[in-house]
Amino acid sequence: PRVTVVGAGRVGSTLAQRIAEKNLADVVLLDIVEGMPQGLALDLLEARGLELHNRQISGTNNYADTANSNIVVITAGFPRKPGMSRDDLLKINAKIVVDAAKNAIAHSPHAIFIVVTNPLDVMTYLTWQATNLPRNQVMGMAGVLDSARFETFIALELGVLPADVKAMVLGSHGDLMVPLARYATVNGIPITELLDAATIERLVERTRNGGAEIVELMHTGGAFFAPASATSLMVESILLNQSRLLPVAAYLQGEYGLNDIVIGVPCRLGCGGIENILELTLSDEEKTALQTSANSVRQNIQRAQE
Ligand code: NAI
Repeated sequence: PRVTVVGAGRVGSTLAQRIAEKNLADVVLLDIVEGMPQGLALDLLEARGLELHNRQISGTNNYADTANSNIVVITAGFPRKPGMSRDDLLKINAKIVVDAAKNAIAHSPHAIFIVVTNPLDVMTYLTWQATNLPRNQVMGMAGVLDSARFETFIALELGVLPADVKAMVLGSHGDLMVPLARYATVNGIPITELLDAATIERLVERTRNGGAEIVELMHTGGAFFAPASATSLMVESILLNQSRLLPVAAYLQGEYGLNDIVIGVPCRLGCGGIENILELTLSDEEKTALQTSANSVRQNIQRAQE
C-alpha cells in the first residue's frame, strides 16, 4: 500500500518515519517547499538498512507523484504559536487544507483521508466537503492523541504502566474536548476507584490544556511525536483492517443527536475507513459538553466559509 503525507513539517515527517519504520506502507511526502520533502525522503531512505525495512519513501512538490494512494494524511498548514488558540489558525489553514484535499483526490479518487491540520474538526469537515467522498472515508485525528495524553497523566499520577491505562476523549479538539473520566480504567479498574474527584478534575484540565502546555514550553510550533504516533495508529488500523475502536473526528448524521457536523466519537477503523460509529450512553453533563463542543465547531465552519 501507499500513504501520501501532505505537509512534510514536523508532524508529517515524523509520521512518514513511523509508517515506513513500522513497515506499514510506502510513503510519499509532499510539501510546497521545494527540495525539502525530497531531502527528508532521502534521509529516511538512508536509514532503511539500519532500521531493517524495505519501504519506498519519496518526496515531491507535485500531486501527480501521489497517484493511487490508499490513504492521504493532511498535515499541511500552520501550527500554533504561544498564546494562540487552534481557532486562530482557521482561515489560513482552511485554504491550505481545501487546496490539498482537492489536489490529492484528483490523483487518488479512492483514498481514505485522515486530517491532522488544526483547527482539526473544521478542517476535517472542509476536507469531507472538498473531496465529496462518502463520510466513512474522511476522518480527523485528535481523540487518539487527547486520549493518550489523558492516559499519560493518569499513569503518571498513579505510577502505573501507561499501556495499562485506557481512556477515551470525545468532542472537538480544543478547550471544549470531552474526556470521559468515568469510562477510564487501569486494567479494568475504574479510575474513580483509584483517584479522588479533585485529582481527576486536575488531570482532565491538564488533558484539555495538553497541546498548549507543549506549545508554551517549546515556543516554536507544538507537539509532533505523540501526534505522529496517534496518526500512525489510525493508519495501521485501516491498512491492517484491525477494527480498532478509537475516538475519531467523524461526520455525523444523527448520531449523538448531531447532524452535518464533524466531531470526535468512538469509531471502528478498518479497511473501509470508519466501519461504524458507536453510540455510547452519555450522562446529561457529557451530552451537554458534546453539544457545546459541536456548537463551537459549527460556528467555526461558518467563519471559515465567510
Ligand atoms: P510544521 O510547520 O512543522 O509543518 C507544516 C508543513 O506544511 C510545512 O512544511 C509547510 O511548508 C507545509 N505547507 C504549508 N502550506 C502547504 C501547502 N499549501 N501544501 C503543502 N504543504 C504545505 O507544522 P506541524 O507542527 O507539522 O503541524 C502541522 C499541523 O498539524 C498544524 O496545523 C498543527 O496545528 C496540526 N497539529 C494537529 C494535531 C492534532 O491533534 N490534530 C497535533 C499536532 C499538530
